[in-house]
Amino acid sequence: MTDPRRSLAKSEISFTVNGELRKVRAYPMERLLDVLRHQLELTGAKEGCGEGECGSCSVLMNGALVNSCLVPVLQAAATSIVTIEGLSSGEQLHDLQKAFLEWGGAQCGICTPGMILAACHLLNGKPNPTLEEIREGLSGNLCRCTGYSQILEAVQEAARRRKRA
Ligand code: FES
Ligand code: FES
Repeated sequence: MTDPRRSLAKSEISFTVNGELRKVRAYPMERLLDVLRHQLELTGAKEGCGEGECGSCSVLMNGALVNSCLVPVLQAAATSIVTIEGLSSGEQLHDLQKAFLEWGGAQCGICTPGMILAACHLLNGKPNPTLEEIREGLSGNLCRCTGYSQILEAVQEAARRRKRA
């Protein structure tokens, strides 16, 4: 049976990824996750469930947190996408990446890029979140390893450091 994601012809689609204009040739219904990983070689976004349940494929699209496994690439046309690769600047880790490292918020790492992007999205909108707000902000992202407490502590610590800076 034909894959419905490949039932229309490929076309050229442009969008900005991590501040750079990128053009891809893709089937309109191809998943943004696949285009990022296979065409643009941005393998930070991970595939967990492939069904919008785990958040490991999270990216920011025009500032909104989206599950890239659910976004047809055509929907990303002319948008601005940020992946985990876009957070650090050169060798310099993003403050959330540092906090996750220091607080043991990353173990196997599958959930980590999505968690960090969800935390980034949360702190962009709420610089001083309560623990409950952090839990809620990360509620679309599942982790099988950490038991969540180190992740929550890492986000709290990043928020505290931003406040002190
Ligand atoms: S892989 Fe996209 S939500 Fe799980
Ligand atoms: S660190 Fe392994 S799933 Fe979260």
